[in-house]
Amino acid sequence: MAILIAPSILSADFANLEAELGRISSADLAHVDVMDNHFVPNLTLGLPIVERLVQVSPIPIDVHLMIEDPDRWAPAFAEAGAASVTFHAEAVRAPVRLARELRRLGARAGLALRPATPVEPYLDLLAELDMILVMTVEPGFGGQPFLDTMLPKIRRARQAVAGAGLDVWIQVDGGISAQTVERAAEAGADVFVAGSAVYVAEDAAGRIAELRDLAAGHRH
Ligand code: DX5
Ligand code: ZN
Repeated sequence: MAILIAPSILSADFANLEAELGRISSADLAHVDVMDNHFVPNLTLGLPIVERLVQVSPIPIDVHLMIEDPDRWAPAFAEAGAASVTFHAEAVRAPVRLARELRRLGARAGLALRPATPVEPYLDLLAELDMILVMTVEPGFGGQPFLDTMLPKIRRARQAVAGAGLDVWIQVDGGISAQTVERAAEAGADVFVAGSAVYVAEDAAGRIAELRDLAAGHRH
């Protein structure tokens, strides 16, 4: 099981996104949070900006769609060249149809779960997915504390993936730092989103390496 570090540019300087992507070039994925001010009470950036980020990023782009009606909007992010496109279970109408469409367009398909959304109803869909995103904060904002109450959900998701013999990544997003990454890794996460922990660091590459080492040392 590989350990992947995905810094979130939500905590980057939005006036200098190309340079901010350069700061995280030693990471595995650049996590881009798209918010529509309806699914979550915050508004960030959309398709035209993601199209440019894909073109200038030194590492693959991992899009996290916190938007209503992903069935309609998500495929364009795959067409733009995002390596991974994740939509929310609470917003999607036809998850299998959308996941198949994203894969057909060449992206990995991810399904995200808000803290109160159980993973169990989606376990039969695992073969249609490349990633499950277990939100470890309420989506919408960076800098919130990690919810330890999500650890059992991460464990259950990992058990189900292992039991099915599938290579579905389990991503955690929210409050991941040097203080929390080990607990998430031990529970079974293998893709770690970190916004504030990476971007407030003077040495972003050093923080990325630190998170990677801590996670690898506590890998499931
Ligand atoms: C929050 C976003 C996260 C956010 C995480 O809804 O999905 O990706 O950037 O920020 P931190 O790592 O600061 O909790
Ligand atoms: Zn995110």
